[in-house]
Amino acid sequence: MRGAALVTALLAGSACANAGLNVTTTCHLIAKAISNKSAVFWPGSPSYTQDNLHWATSSSDVSTCSVEPGTAQDVGKILQILGTTKTPFAVKGGGHATNAGFSSTTGVLVAMSRFSNVTYNSAPQTVDYGTGIIWDDVYEALEPFGVNIVGGRVSGVGVAGFSLGGGYSWLTNQHGLTVDNVAGFEIVLPNGQVTEVTRQSDADLFFSVLGGYNNFGIVTRITAKAYPQGQVWGGIRVILGVGDNWDALNNATAKFQAEVTDPKAQILPTYNIFAGTPAATVIMFYDGTTPPAGIFDDLMAIPAAQEDVSTRSFLSLVQATPSSLTTRAVFNTVSLTTLSPSLMRAVVNETQFWAAKLTPASANFISYDVEPFLTSLFTHGTVQATAYPPTRARGLLPLNIYYAWDLAADDAVMQAAIKQSAAHLKAVAVAEGQNVADAPVYGNYAAPGTSVQDVFGDSLPRMRKTKQRIDPHNVMALAGGWKV
Ligand SMILES: Cc1cc2nc3c(=O)[nH]c(=O)nc-3n(C[C@H](O)[C@H](O)[C@H](O)COP(=O)(O)OP(=O)(O)OC[C@H]3O[C@@H](n4cnc5c(N)ncnc54)[C@H](O)[C@@H]3O)c2cc1C
Ligand SMILES: *[C@@H]1O[C@H](CO)[C@@H](O)[C@H](O)[C@H]1NC(C)=O
Ligand SMILES: *[C@@H]1O[C@H](CO)[C@@H](O)[C@H](O)[C@H]1NC(C)=O
Ligand SMILES: *[C@@H]1O[C@H](CO)[C@@H](O)[C@H](O)[C@H]1NC(C)=O
Ligand SMILES: *[C@@H]1O[C@H](CO)[C@@H](O)[C@H](O)[C@H]1NC(C)=O
Ligand SMILES: *[C@@H]1O[C@H](CO)[C@@H](O)[C@H](O)[C@H]1NC(C)=O
Repeated sequence: MRGAALVTALLAGSACANAGLNVTTTCHLIAKAISNKSAVFWPGSPSYTQDNLHWATSSSDVSTCSVEPGTAQDVGKILQILGTTKTPFAVKGGGHATNAGFSSTTGVLVAMSRFSNVTYNSAPQTVDYGTGIIWDDVYEALEPFGVNIVGGRVSGVGVAGFSLGGGYSWLTNQHGLTVDNVAGFEIVLPNGQVTEVTRQSDADLFFSVLGGYNNFGIVTRITAKAYPQGQVWGGIRVILGVGDNWDALNNATAKFQAEVTDPKAQILPTYNIFAGTPAATVIMFYDGTTPPAGIFDDLMAIPAAQEDVSTRSFLSLVQATPSSLTTRAVFNTVSLTTLSPSLMRAVVNETQFWAAKLTPASANFISYDVEPFLTSLFTHGTVQATAYPPTRARGLLPLNIYYAWDLAADDAVMQAAIKQSAAHLKAVAVAEGQNVADAPVYGNYAAPGTSVQDVFGDSLPRMRKTKQRIDPHNVMALAGGWKV
């Protein structure tokens, strides 16, 4: 049944038939249309509360109702009703988007939590995973099979936004981004049709969805390439910003980026100032039980205030860094080609500068992480394989800036500061000769207000052409995000 016909048929039997359409009415229409595998929840119920939770409180809105679809067919009915009634909505996976309105809404919140299956297919060496879970669930399900897929680095992150935006993983140096490892997906198109998409079946849609988030419909299942996975080495060290500790961390990081070419090795140094106290963390990863001598020696030599480093399962390493949050937050990002010592010094200076400047507000957490991937990271996908990254001509290392604070009244000042800081670091990189003046930025790290041109660059024309064909009535514009 087409969307308009479906809504008319539902309204015909409804007390609200002449009430005019509002969001509450839309919620009732959805409740009536869906099967018993799905359910609508209202404020006050535990499921509604859970559905509306986000990693950052600043990303949560109070939705009118939430709906947990349990089948792709029900997702189709929901999208038809939302499109016909032009009701604002959001699609939520793990709820880790830091931008308000990306996976939250005052309209209908579509929470994907019932799409929770993880299936390992040994013959084709692939994994099917539902879009309602977090990476911890995937790693846990795959551990008994001794396989893994390219996914998140710390605990709690949703698979959906991560996989549909890019996906920088501990396995990226070996296998590329998460989008480079997708073999196919099931998507519910804005007209309600449930479709399996591969590069062979629809090259333009495959390209556009991988990087294009929720612009083309609601993805219900993803199939990714699987790789053998044994025990790994690594974990987290906390390095206080006292004495010359951070200088040593800068040096070790710059050296790691310049010299380490073993694709199984990776580090994630993060410079944090929490309530005035400088405490960096460095997560180390080696895809093997024991790292070769030399790679991590400089990092291990810096005195640590806390340490959790061992040979362990992949899941255990990921869960060594919990990441729950109950405050407001914003991310921003700069794309770099090199983590030079001077760039590292500028990063530390930003940390100190903004921690001091923002302390009078409710700022309590100022954080900068640098991500020294191999600059070959984009060569695992073919040229123009996916909407993000829009160029694979050179390797770009995402730097993630993250501020957290308590009061909504401080949102504007924190968001302005994080934009100024990113602009300053980009200027430093350009001044030292990095070819990043026009570099695209990673959508999952970009601050609100970043232009879609900066995220999608040269991919935009192909995405827009695909959008015309797949979503001519622009139903997906009723949901927030990076809109093409
Ligand atoms: C603590 C933390 C650690 C992180 N670590 C990493 C990292 O190591 N590497 C990395 O690359 N990124 C990382 N990120 C960024 C992360 O990739 C994004 O936050 C990502 O969007 C999370 O996905 P989600 O499903 O939790 O997000 P959500 O907030 O649920 O969704 C994000 C976007 O995707 C859309 N979306 C969700 N589900 C669907 C669907 N089924 N179909 C279509 N669109 C959908 C939403 O509408 C929204 O626009 C991290 C973020 C946090 C907060
Ligand atoms: C929305 O419609 C319902 C009837 O379905 C009605 O009870 C409610 O008052 C309406 N709300 C608004 C804000 O118009
Ligand atoms: C759900 O619906 C199906 C088919 O419509 C029916 O066979 C089944 O009994 C229902 N289950 C419950 C628990 O109501
Ligand atoms: C999950 O797997 C079960 C068993 O194969 C299947 O019946 C169910 O439909 C799947 N759920 C979803 C949401 O795909
Ligand atoms: C960091 O490197 C610089 C330049 O090589 C050097 O002068 C400095 O002593 C190093 N700092 C530490 C703590 O090793
Ligand atoms: C430190 O950062 C501030 C803010 O970006 C900048 O104005 C200043 O020039 C920086 N100082 C140094 C020494 O880099």
